[in-house]
Amino acid sequence: MSQHFQHDVLVIGSGAAGLSLALTLPGHLRIAVLSKGNLANGSTFWAQGGVAAVLDGTDTVQSHVEDTLNAGGGLCHEDAVRFTVEHSREAIQWLIDQGVPFTRDESADPEHPGFEFHLTREGGHSHRRIIHAADATGAAIFKTLLEQARQRPNIELLEQRVAVDLITERRLGLEGDRCLGAYVLNRATGEVDTYGSRFTILASGGAAKVYLYTSNPDGACGDGIAMAWRSGCRVANLEFNQFHPTCLYHPQAKSFLITEALRGEGAHLKLPNGERFMHRFDPRGELAPRDIVARAIDHEMKRLGIDCVYLDISHESDTFIKTHFPTVYERCLEFSIDITQQAIPVVPAAHYTCGGVVVDGHGRTDVPGLYAIGETSFTGLHGANRMASNSLLECFVYARSAAADILTQLDDINIPDTLPSWDASQVTDSDEDVIIAHNWDELRRFMWDYVGIVRTNKRLQRAEHRVRLLLDEIDEFYSNYKVSRDLIELRNLAQVAELIIRSAMARKESRGLHYTLDYPDMLPEALDTILVPTTYAD
Ligand code: FUM
Repeated sequence: MSQHFQHDVLVIGSGAAGLSLALTLPGHLRIAVLSKGNLANGSTFWAQGGVAAVLDGTDTVQSHVEDTLNAGGGLCHEDAVRFTVEHSREAIQWLIDQGVPFTRDESADPEHPGFEFHLTREGGHSHRRIIHAADATGAAIFKTLLEQARQRPNIELLEQRVAVDLITERRLGLEGDRCLGAYVLNRATGEVDTYGSRFTILASGGAAKVYLYTSNPDGACGDGIAMAWRSGCRVANLEFNQFHPTCLYHPQAKSFLITEALRGEGAHLKLPNGERFMHRFDPRGELAPRDIVARAIDHEMKRLGIDCVYLDISHESDTFIKTHFPTVYERCLEFSIDITQQAIPVVPAAHYTCGGVVVDGHGRTDVPGLYAIGETSFTGLHGANRMASNSLLECFVYARSAAADILTQLDDINIPDTLPSWDASQVTDSDEDVIIAHNWDELRRFMWDYVGIVRTNKRLQRAEHRVRLLLDEIDEFYSNYKVSRDLIELRNLAQVAELIIRSAMARKESRGLHYTLDYPDMLPEALDTILVPTTYAD
């Protein structure tokens, strides 16, 4: 039997953004935080680098803003950038207050407390401004926030709950457009339960899983973006998919990132013959923004017909490497790569979705009562290319801003006591799960081949044709069979893939992360690609 639940706030996603929002709200609100797998399965846990913020007295808000604008290829919204950076210090202080064990600067002067943490550097940043916990910052933040959330009786942490779709007044045929909660598959019972909520938050991460090779964990399927789109929200700039330049290249090393902080601390990119090559592409060399480094690697791999390039930090001392990069050191050693002695084989892989659900400065989407925060959202911060470590910062700043906005509305918002149950009367068990697995593989491969680092009109047309066929097939499957996690994710991935392809086709220029051989130049005017769901375009 399916069940009905009521909460004040329903948070879909249990990463940095979702947990921060839940913890920022007052203790009298009933909050549910849903994770579609185990709580720790999201992208936050795997983030290595850190959080960019203006913390050092020699750094300035203006400098961080300018670096972000430069990396963003003319497409950042300056107001969003300034808003985020101006709130960076208080967001970090909040994390410190929660107990996040950031790495301390051994050489810090205790008389100047502003300098007590070590700040590292990453591509595009003109200052050392990345606060971090060695090379496992995401795990340190996640564990701390989870620990805090577990101590709050008003926060229910629910695992193995997969949101299927949002419940809106429009969907129910009621007057208005408000989001009233979500239908959620409980993987333990196989039932789709009804979660009514006064405020619903999409904090489910990005869609890098749409590509065959990705640094992201399995859940990064664009669920929040797809659900928001189906509910009538605009999405923006989905053509800007960031490929991280350096993921470990090894047949058994699925999804392992080699943090950009290695390059920040002096690692060199090399060809198999030991030659450095980045200076041929950008005067900043290895510290050029990610789009440039990823394209340079892709170019060299294709030019030389090689499977990978190499990242070498072995010129630094063993102690330095093991202290600053213990996670990378240990993980590489598992594959018999001793990074104190040898270079690491690396390739680019899909890493971050710069576009997303259009939101305002409080994370409010086009649908009242529905918020999007973190990688799911499009705030305008990242422009055409996200600067390293700005994304975790965005999670904290917008989570806090959304929480503050919810507080201003608490007294005014009520929703119906009962909502209709999920209708599963027309569906049966699937006897053809192989179709789901096949479609997953096909989708991710053609997205990698046709909608990857270098695009053309022809490749995009091919991808568009294929994704439409897949969407039809998935639609039929979805209408006739009981939903499963795999089917829900495939449906969302295919939806987001289609939006990515449409956005890429609409951009007749090369800018930031979107590079096409048919339009290699940048147009004089920088414009967002905004898609409006046709069913809802009035
Ligand atoms: O390279 C990294 O550690 C990744 C940082 C980021 O994506 O912001």
